[in-house]
Amino acid sequence: MSDRVYIFDTTLRDGEQSPGASMNTAEKMRLATQLEKLGVDILEAGFPAASEGDFEAVKKVASKLQRTEVAGLARTSKSDIDKAWGAVQHAVKPKIHTFIATSDIHMKYKLNMERDQVIKTAVEAVAYAKSLSGNVEFSAEDGSRSDRDFLCKIFEAAIEAGASVVNLPDTVGYAVPEEFEELVKYVISHTPNIHKAVLSVHCHNDLGLATANTLSAVKAGARQVEVTMNGIGERAGNTSLEEVVMALHTRPNYLASQTNINTEEIFSTSRLVSMITGILVQPNKAIIGANAFAHEAGIHQDGVLKNPMTYEIMKPETIGLNRNKMILGKHSGRHALKDRLKEMGYDLSDDEMSLVFQKFKKVADRKKQILDEDLEAIASEGLIRTSDIFRLEYLHVTCGSTVLPMASVKLNVNGRSVQGADYGNGPIDAAFNTIAKLAGTDAELLRFSVSALTGGTDAQGEVTVRLKENGLIALGKGADPDIITASSLAYINGLNRLEYLKAHPVESAEFR
Ligand code: KIV
Ligand code: ZN
Repeated sequence: MSDRVYIFDTTLRDGEQSPGASMNTAEKMRLATQLEKLGVDILEAGFPAASEGDFEAVKKVASKLQRTEVAGLARTSKSDIDKAWGAVQHAVKPKIHTFIATSDIHMKYKLNMERDQVIKTAVEAVAYAKSLSGNVEFSAEDGSRSDRDFLCKIFEAAIEAGASVVNLPDTVGYAVPEEFEELVKYVISHTPNIHKAVLSVHCHNDLGLATANTLSAVKAGARQVEVTMNGIGERAGNTSLEEVVMALHTRPNYLASQTNINTEEIFSTSRLVSMITGILVQPNKAIIGANAFAHEAGIHQDGVLKNPMTYEIMKPETIGLNRNKMILGKHSGRHALKDRLKEMGYDLSDDEMSLVFQKFKKVADRKKQILDEDLEAIASEGLIRTSDIFRLEYLHVTCGSTVLPMASVKLNVNGRSVQGADYGNGPIDAAFNTIAKLAGTDAELLRFSVSALTGGTDAQGEVTVRLKENGLIALGKGADPDIITASSLAYINGLNRLEYLKAHPVESAEFR
């Protein structure tokens, strides 16, 4: 058996099913490009039958990637499979991923089908997909709660019909590691033609066991793992790519398997995912959390200074942390900025570059050192497509322990300056109330999060908001050393984005 474990990334599909994580086509393309740079083997770009927007996004991603296999998800219906093929067919390596549920509870209550019917449907779907694509994965949804012998039977039939990968999902995150390892061993030893396919696993994290289950499956012989960056995904999320990859990398003797991932791209990919989705990474998250490499206790710091391996099982550089930390400042020119952004994966047009350079100069006037994290925030603002209806011209806020927080704002609305003032529970609430009044919006604020991009009191605050109006949901971003300004910019960015979505109904469909 080969020691190579294939990384099937589903950040753009299952990851996007995280509550509120919808991405538009431009964001998906940007992320797909970064995932290719990270070195994922297969990228599941979406579920083309789900919506027109999803179909277009998968199609664009498929045409863009140069090396990576691109998969489109499909139920077992002919129309889903046609859609998936329509979307992925121009990929360098297209793949159709079709699935049907195999647990008794799903077959009875969801599908209302008998076992024989489910096998027949799966076989027909795989054979049809194979006739189009030649590269087909079959998933047995809720596989971990399915009857073992039935699971082996349907895998055998799917392989016979042409599937080159059979996937065993722990759809509801119910399995525990020993049991899952056993199940994978059972499938391998009781599916007569399993050697003709790659056995894959796909775990969810409802009990916090997704990574453990995935690694147990690899120990038992699974050779493809389905993962998402930062572990985002339906409910409690999917197995996180960075955890599995770094476990395999850090414990080669125990797990004896390798991936093709360029681990130095992990950190920037993680940042990009949280920037695009607005889902922040918890500070104590393994591998990519802000505290993952921070040593607080004196005894640890002393040990690390004497020899990093006393307390560090991985080097921060291995995941791309601390590379080129201090790079640009206010004297840096457009050329240096462009080069650095290109190294970071931002290939910006001249117009985008002009916008980013202006913003960079403004930030550099107020912050001595511009780190990669700052640059990412500056550049990614340009990636969020938006209208230019609202623009902040002036913001003044009074707050403190003895005054009622109040904001006065001058807002440019469609080229006309309007101004006003209002109160709030705090300075940000006051600023938002004033902006909302001037913009004439009653958008609901669904999410508000602030984080410091770098260390130090001069760090830029990065703010993400999620706004909802008339069923449309938009993400807004803002970064500035002053967090009230950053918040106002994020709010205005979100309002502009809502206007953009109102004017582009196809993209709006993706956000419902
Ligand atoms: O969790 C699951 O079962 C899935 C399948 C579609 C693979 O996402
Ligand atoms: Zn899933």
